Amino acid sequence: MIEKIEALLSEIKQLTVSSPEQAETARVKYLGKKGSISSLMDDFRTVPPQQKREVGMRLNELKQKATEKIELLRKQFENSGAANSDIDLSRTAYPIPLGTRHPLSIVKEEICDIFKRLGFSIAEGPEVEDDWHVFSSLNFADDHPARDMQDTFFIQSDPQVVLRTHTSSVQTRVMEKSDPPIRIICPGRVYRNEAISYRAHCFFHQVEALYIDKDVSFADLKQALLFFAREMFGEQTKIRLRPSYFPFTEPSAEMDISCNICGGKGCPFCKNTGWVEILGCGMVDPNVLENCGIDSKVYSGYALGMGIERITNLKYQVKDLRMFSENDVRFLEQFQSAH
Ligand code: DAH
Repeated sequence: MIEKIEALLSEIKQLTVSSPEQAETARVKYLGKKGSISSLMDDFRTVPPQQKREVGMRLNELKQKATEKIELLRKQFENSGAANSDIDLSRTAYPIPLGTRHPLSIVKEEICDIFKRLGFSIAEGPEVEDDWHVFSSLNFADDHPARDMQDTFFIQSDPQVVLRTHTSSVQTRVMEKSDPPIRIICPGRVYRNEAISYRAHCFFHQVEALYIDKDVSFADLKQALLFFAREMFGEQTKIRLRPSYFPFTEPSAEMDISCNICGGKGCPFCKNTGWVEILGCGMVDPNVLENCGIDSKVYSGYALGMGIERITNLKYQVKDLRMFSENDVRFLEQFQSAH
């Protein structure tokens, strides 16, 4: 037995292989279930008791040495794989052309950055939503026209599941979960059942902002809006608020900025008015606060929402909305950003 062990030990010591396959064959030969070491282990039973200790030790040593050696043989191919192939690792890499950020991402980041400087943080919600968060919680009456098939993509009727038509749904999701003060900005994709043309698409992007605290007033909203407009479009930008209606805000307004293309003189883009509409806003309706478990006698807040495509058009004068989703690199490459 001892001689057999010695013989195997020196055989294994001298073992060389020239391919990973040979290393595997050697493993099976020595360490496999039917390999020579296993059969020695089987023979161990017949060793007389007084020799068992020594033979046992030598057997273990053999098994360990064999395992180490096979591992070594295998490793040599792993390490030398690249060196043996035709790949020249010292060669300089081919230049990989860097992509550019999508214009909508650039503008989204810019909008979010401005609001972050005012202390807002990002919140997100699902695109596939329930009726409650898109409509009911936001004070839409059951027969409100926005629920109409014209606008909404319905996915399931009972319980009602829809593709969100605006990012205002994130407002109520956050209000339900957190206590004021709340200061969030929610960027995201929204869907509407519209015929696709140069000025409408069945999906587009919005950014929503929401601020809830004690004593938040319309003056705070105006100040935030003015700050945003100037940061986004330049110091000289003017704003004006027109009364409007949204179910979830009272009072509601739409904000125009002085047309940044003609500087307010009048051009085709602003239809010669000198003003362009960029967002909807207002004081959060007390019903919405109550729907989300926030005491409307203690807290008030403002909300605003804008379309990212619209802001991007104003910045870059993209005439056809469809360009944003066609993935034409000749279009996309024209946008460079620091973001
Ligand atoms: N959700 C509105 C829309 O999609 C935009 C909007 C208007 C959001 C007023 C607001 C708001 O938060 O206060 O047209």
